[in-house]
Order: sequence, then structure tokens, then C-alpha cells
Amino acid sequence: MDKLKKHILVTGGAGYIGSHTVVALTEAGFQPVILDDFRNAHPDVIDRLEEITQTQILCERSSCHDTDLLESIIEKYNIWGVIHFAADKAVGESVENPLKYFDNNLGGLISLLKAMKSKGVHRLVFSSSCTVYGLPKTIPVTENEEVSYNSPYGFTKLINEQMLEQFVQAEEQFKTVLLRYFNPVGAHASGLIGEEPRGVPTNLLPFITQTAAGIRKELVVHGDDYETSDGTCIRDYIHVVDLAEAHVKALEFIDSDKSASLEVINIGTGNGTSVKEMIDTFVSTCDTSLNWRIGPRRSGDVPAIYADAALAKEKLNWEAKLTVKDALRSAWNYQQKRVQKTSEL
Ligand code: UD1
Repeated sequence: MDKLKKHILVTGGAGYIGSHTVVALTEAGFQPVILDDFRNAHPDVIDRLEEITQTQILCERSSCHDTDLLESIIEKYNIWGVIHFAADKAVGESVENPLKYFDNNLGGLISLLKAMKSKGVHRLVFSSSCTVYGLPKTIPVTENEEVSYNSPYGFTKLINEQMLEQFVQAEEQFKTVLLRYFNPVGAHASGLIGEEPRGVPTNLLPFITQTAAGIRKELVVHGDDYETSDGTCIRDYIHVVDLAEAHVKALEFIDSDKSASLEVINIGTGNGTSVKEMIDTFVSTCDTSLNWRIGPRRSGDVPAIYADAALAKEKLNWEAKLTVKDALRSAWNYQQKRVQKTSEL
């Protein structure tokens, strides 16, 4: 353990966005310490992270619910700041099982804040989502847009944000940045880490790559009768490598004099891409074919949403550098490597 480095506790650090952030932190000279219960991550992600970073990855296997254990981890590694990813994120599942979401997403943050408070750690980057905008009135969406929720998952993110708003009022030293992610996509250039949901993916890009790889029969586009340019929904797809970088910038910002006790910042590209555009660009960029058809709308889908990303540039000096094409290429590279790997086992 390099005592000179700032140690960052990364809850959910073995997951999709967490693992890419561990790489970004290492490259920026921080020492990440992963806390993950691997409910939605593969244990061999740690080996793959070691291969990418060529360093030993520090990892503790636990959920965030064990406050005593969190306190001992904070002490053991002399934790300087925390990035909190650990949460459940499947909208449909949250509708069927809201308690699971209340318990994990609300309980996890409460337990973490208790441990941080008792051990005097007062820097937190929180993983929020554009889901808190519900059906936005204006696009591109700024951080001043009214917040609401469409699902128990969205509700938990909103309550998490509000909990932090109230917590910082009571804790003078505490500083936090709430990052509202738009749609994270893509994979690390090495092809060693990427998005690999357990079971059938609900998000668009893993469904596209798994269909192209022959794991799924066909991609069903959820509706083409929206009031958008081509009738399919529009989203702001942000490359996960850019998104990971935003967390490093947020930590550096918290450490600067300029940071207020709480900042809410959109992390997106500022551009909207339709589902059909995603499919067409995937097929042309990755030079492959895709079996897809139009199906009915998916309940709860917002027709169009993309970020006003100006505040991220202003406050964090962060902006997206990679394109949707980069994301599609890297996701396909990852998918192909993983299929190969699975067939070798
Ligand atoms: C979803 C959640 C969002 C959450 C995010 C987490 C909903 C309504 N929103 O975002 O709250 O923060 O995941 O990752 O679930 N699509 C298809 N066919 C598919 C899959 C998706 O056509 O098989 C379409 C969807 O209808 C949507 C677009 O692709 O228009 C993106 O979908 P998805 O990747 O699920 O993301 P969101 O719905 O934007």
C-alpha cells in the first residue's frame, strides 16, 4: 500500500462504471480501494483490472450495509474520499420489487454516511442519474430542471440526492458532488472490462452487441411512433471512459477551494442519438449485421432526453472527448473478446 497516495473508497468498484473509474483513478495517481459484494459483477474483474493497470488492486468483498466493516476499512486504508456507485439500477425490477431498491439504494447510502461521519471522511462523489428528471419539460436538460421520478429506482436516486442535501446542512466540513449520468455506453480500449449485465440485458447497447454476437435472437426496438426525427427514442450516450474521467475531476474539484458543499452536475455529451441511429451506426462502424425489428413501446420510456453539459465544463473542466462511434466500436470489441473467452472456458 502506497501511503503517499490518496486512498479512494470505490463502492461498487467492480461494476460497469466503477471498474472504469478504478482505472481512471489509478492513472490519475490515486489509490482506489474497491468495496463490492459482487451481486452484479464478476469476481475476475479484479484480475482484469490488474492486467490493465499493472498494479495490485485493493478489494474488500462486502456490501455497504455493514457500517462497522466500512469504518474498519476507512481506518485500515486511511480513506481520503469516497465514490459511491454501489446500488441496484434496473427500472423494471424496481417496479416489481421496490423494497429491494429502498433497502439497497437508501440503506447503503445511510450506512456509508454513518461510517464517513464517525471516521471524519468528508469528501463524496455520488452516482446519480438523469432518471431524476422524469419526463423533462425542456431539452437539453439543465441541472435546474424540475426533478421527479417514474419508478422506485428513480425514487431512490431522488431520495439519495435529497438525503445528501440535508446531510451537508448538518455537516459543516462535508463536500459532495452529485453526478447525474445520462446513458453510459462502451468499454475500455483493452477490451478487458465493459458492460456485462447478468441475465438478459435491459439496456440498449449490451442488447445490440449480444444480438450481433448471436447470444440473443433479435433486438426489439421499443416503438418507432414517437415524435422524434425517425420515431425512435433519443438519448445522450456517454462513453464510460469519459464518464470515469468525470469522477476523477469531481474528486479534484472537491479538493479545490472553489467547491461548494454540494454540487449537482450533468454528465453527458450534449448530443441526442436515436435508437435507429445507434443501430445504423453500429452496423456500419463495426462492419457487422444485426437482426432487429420494431416492437411496441416500452412503458415508462421518455421520448427524448439529452444533457446540457455546460456546467460540467465550467465547474469540473470536463467534457466528453469520445464519440458514439468510439463507444460502439469498443463495446463490440469487448463483446467479441468476452465471447471468445467464454468459449475457451
Ligand atoms: C434506463 C433507465 C434509466 C436508468 C438507466 C440505467 C428506463 C425507462 N430508464 O435508461 O432510469 O438510469 O437505464 O442504465 O428504463 N431500447 C430498445 N430495445 C432494447 C433496449 C432499449 O429499443 O432492447 C431503447 C429504449 O426504449 C430507449 C433506448 O433504447 O429508447 C435506451 O434504453 P436503455 O438503454 O434501457 O436506457 P434508458 O431507458 O434511457
